[in-house]
Amino acid sequence: MNIAIPREVVDDERRVAMVPDMAKRLAGEGLTVRVEKDAGVAAGYPNEAYRAAGAELVNDTASLWRDADVVLKIHMPTEHPTLGKHEASAMREGASLVGLLQPFRHHEAVQKLAEGNITSFSLDALPRITRAQSMDVLSSMSTVAGYKAVLVGASHLGRFFPMLITAAGTIRPSQVFVLGVGVAGLQAIATARRLGAVVEAFDVRPGVKEQVESLGARFLVAEQVEAEGEGGYAKELSQEQHQRELQLIQEHIRNADVVITTALIPGKPAPVLVTEEMVRAMKPGSVIVDLAAEMGGNCVLTQKGVEVTECGVTILGPLNLPATMPTHASQMYAKNISTFLQHLLKEGELNLDFEDEITASTCITREGKIVHEATRSAIDGGKGS
Ligand code: NAI
Repeated sequence: MNIAIPREVVDDERRVAMVPDMAKRLAGEGLTVRVEKDAGVAAGYPNEAYRAAGAELVNDTASLWRDADVVLKIHMPTEHPTLGKHEASAMREGASLVGLLQPFRHHEAVQKLAEGNITSFSLDALPRITRAQSMDVLSSMSTVAGYKAVLVGASHLGRFFPMLITAAGTIRPSQVFVLGVGVAGLQAIATARRLGAVVEAFDVRPGVKEQVESLGARFLVAEQVEAEGEGGYAKELSQEQHQRELQLIQEHIRNADVVITTALIPGKPAPVLVTEEMVRAMKPGSVIVDLAAEMGGNCVLTQKGVEVTECGVTILGPLNLPATMPTHASQMYAKNISTFLQHLLKEGELNLDFEDEITASTCITREGKIVHEATRSAIDGGKGS
């Protein structure tokens, strides 16, 4: 069976879906692993490393796509800059595709996959169950983003994070405030603590208090603000709860040197947690890193991918931070996607069991149809691009 790993063609993407170590493992199981030439170079994985791992290096992009039984990639197929066609149309009918496809945002591409009779699986639809943990690319990429957000914040700050006692006097530690304590938030807390900052954090799921405290940070409690929904995710707050939350944030944000916001609610725009008034109350020179920028931002002043300065406060809305740490991000992604692929295989061949929760919930298109209900209703509702 032919497994194809194309080079990602989306702007500024440096990750690759497969690293040589994992390619070696798949090849060892009897799969033919074909990697597009230079696919891993930007992530620090040279062509030679794939060849040494038993993969075949492919120069001809069209044949890589056409001959694949399964394509493993990161982004949803898109118009290819040199193929002169859409990547989805470059696949043969009946082939399979696995990626972090974000089908809600790419309606046209989903339709092309269905029309091309591609069986596609999106790893952002993976159920958050124990059995699926080793396939969970969202957690892996959130880990990278949470870590990198702190480094980005620190590098924009004119202050040290740790307390320093020097001959030139004592430096007080920086204060970091983390809003939203899912996977990214926890990693941000851990990273800020390792750098020596004093950290406070807030989430609408009070269950995370223990995890926050175990990392040496202080968990803030807003009275009667609690919104744990299905699958351990947050749900939207009532107007009254939201006001209480804003009051708590307002009280604490003025002391913060760096604010990292990560709050998301599945299928909804990001909740607004930092108002213009709060930004104006912050100290000049402080920094907000808004990881929710792609979903509209947790700060009202955030602009996607742009650095904004307001009253001396820098507000960053970085997009795709995992692509800025491509070596480890690719290593983690490759491990997750390989585990998912192995889940789909039996004796080296695809053996798709749609009774299985993992296989069924990640499948987006199959037999010419969009089978993922939430994607289908989003498309029918005419939202997205
Ligand atoms: P996420 O990226 O969906 O959201 C980030 C955080 O924002 C969440 O902690 C959420 O509670 C918080 N949030 C939402 N609205 C908020 C508001 N108004 N104010 C403050 N915070 C707000 O979260 P992520 O990282 O995807 O994790 C979601 C859940 O899934 C967590 O319970 C996590 O522990 C769980 N999980 C389970 C896994 C498993 O069992 N396999 C793997 C990974 C995560």
